[in-house]
Amino acid sequence: MLKLNRRIAAIKPSATLAADARATEMKLAGIDVISLAAGEPDFDTPEHIKQAASKALAAGQTKYTAVSGTAALKNAIKLKLKRDNQLDYEPNEIIASAGAKQAEANVINALFDEGDEVIIPTPAWVSFAAMVSLSGAIPKFVPCPEATGFLLEPDTLRRAITPRTRGIMLNSPSNPTGAVYGAEQLIIFNSLSKTYAMTGWRIGFAAGPKEAIAAAGRLQSQNSGNPNSITQAAAIEALTGPQDVLKPMLEAFRKRNALVVERVRRIPGFKLPNVPQGAFYVFPNVSELLGSTFNGKQITDGDQLAAYLLDEAHVSMVGGNDFGASDHVRISYATSTENLNNAFDRVERAVAKLKG
Ligand SMILES: Cc1ncc(COP(=O)(O)O)c(C=O)c1O
Repeated sequence: MLKLNRRIAAIKPSATLAADARATEMKLAGIDVISLAAGEPDFDTPEHIKQAASKALAAGQTKYTAVSGTAALKNAIKLKLKRDNQLDYEPNEIIASAGAKQAEANVINALFDEGDEVIIPTPAWVSFAAMVSLSGAIPKFVPCPEATGFLLEPDTLRRAITPRTRGIMLNSPSNPTGAVYGAEQLIIFNSLSKTYAMTGWRIGFAAGPKEAIAAAGRLQSQNSGNPNSITQAAAIEALTGPQDVLKPMLEAFRKRNALVVERVRRIPGFKLPNVPQGAFYVFPNVSELLGSTFNGKQITDGDQLAAYLLDEAHVSMVGGNDFGASDHVRISYATSTENLNNAFDRVERAVAKLKG
């Protein structure tokens, strides 16, 4: 057998991307699957952002740029952080990367060493643990109860800290729970993927102490280089151009949130005590359905329930196992209200067929 790097050999593919890929495969095979698995808006990138990309292409902006992003993009990120988050960062405290994912991976690798502990409040985004493990550090999972809205409480955090603790991964709004933290973070990661419907463009950024950002920049310079030059031009327009293009998307997500909370709460066995305040996910507790059977096969965790709903209802969602909450499922509502209503009709019918 081909020998692989020990750390790479130990990681699995991202559970969310795998769930979405399975739904896409079934659709290609002609099956009418409704996907509530994807973590991406169903909206198209706004027109003025696409125009900025076309202009950059026509102007020949097709060469390498500064590894950590053009000066113009870093200024646009600086402006955004001030305008939207009331935070002051200088360009040398900012790095643009191919999505928040690459920024996170680079900073994690730049900061943590073998044996360091990194606290990951769970439920947590599926890739944090893999990123931390790949750096050689140890993910230290700290469960955050549903009763406190899945938020990390100061006492719980205090108890989890040891002399080896080097970092805490705070995710707000949380993927998968939608919970929102009010506190500031030391190193901030953000992305244009969801806000500006730009998942495929691959652009995100980190802002923090200049030593950490410079180290992530050195890693990026050796591993991949600058984020896509045309995408950077589009990102400048997204961040500094008219922001009112976001309003209809936000409005649609607000309506879908209300619809999905109502529909999920109506499904017997799906419990959703908290209304998520951000992102576009709900993360219902399905523990009442665990232990039930279909055709003699028992459903024992959220992943198996998601697999059952994909097979039986042709609705794709992501089981909670890789988020550190195996009695939950993650449902993305980044799809039309028609799809959502159809999907929940199907889920209700499939859940009614479960025995026990
Ligand atoms: C915490 C977190 N980081 C990164 C990502 C990916 O973002 P990007 O498309 O910017 O890489 C997501 C969602 O998919 C996320 O929830």
